[in-house]
Amino acid sequence: MAKLIGNKKNIAVFISGRGSNLKYLIINSKIKKSLFKVCLVVSNNPKAIGLKYAKKSKIKYYIVKYKNSNNLETKLLKLIKKFKIEVICLAGFMKILSKNFIRNFSGEIINIHPSLLPKFKGLNTFNRVLKAKEKITGCTVHYVNEKLDNGRAIIKKRVWINKKDSPENLRKKVQIEEHKAYSIAIRKIYNIA
Ligand code: GRF
Repeated sequence: MAKLIGNKKNIAVFISGRGSNLKYLIINSKIKKSLFKVCLVVSNNPKAIGLKYAKKSKIKYYIVKYKNSNNLETKLLKLIKKFKIEVICLAGFMKILSKNFIRNFSGEIINIHPSLLPKFKGLNTFNRVLKAKEKITGCTVHYVNEKLDNGRAIIKKRVWINKKDSPENLRKKVQIEEHKAYSIAIRKIYNIA
């Protein structure tokens, strides 16, 4: 269990696209009793829609080019150190962090995945969930380790599947839970939920 050192945890959010989880992390961080502050946003995609939330809230953001990933991750680790980041939240970040990066970051790295892990790891989740005729699905916030979507779960939120749900409709339902789950997960890793 991570130790609570200061009052507010400095978090970095890594995104690649829509950034709705980033949006809700920012909203929740502004609540008076929030345990965390979003200090840094990293995107591998210069066109990520989610960057607008960082801009709007005047949060520093960095666009990283994954051409030479070793070099890039060394720079990224330095940046994270500079911002005193204690938790990295992966939120739709479409790159896999190297073992080296994971080992060298002294804080927690967590990810949000749109299924009840260990079920439906990987991409294209909603189509696969519907194809499998599941009755319940949901989301999981979990610790990141060296295997994809594999680290210990911190929180899971369930969503009932309606027979008429389309993948897009299901995505929207799951995201409503994701937006609550991520902030709760950060409290939970410090045992404050
Ligand atoms: C979420 O569904 C999350 O579970 C997955 O990627 C999606 C990101 O959504 N890892 P958003 O960019 O935060 O809207």
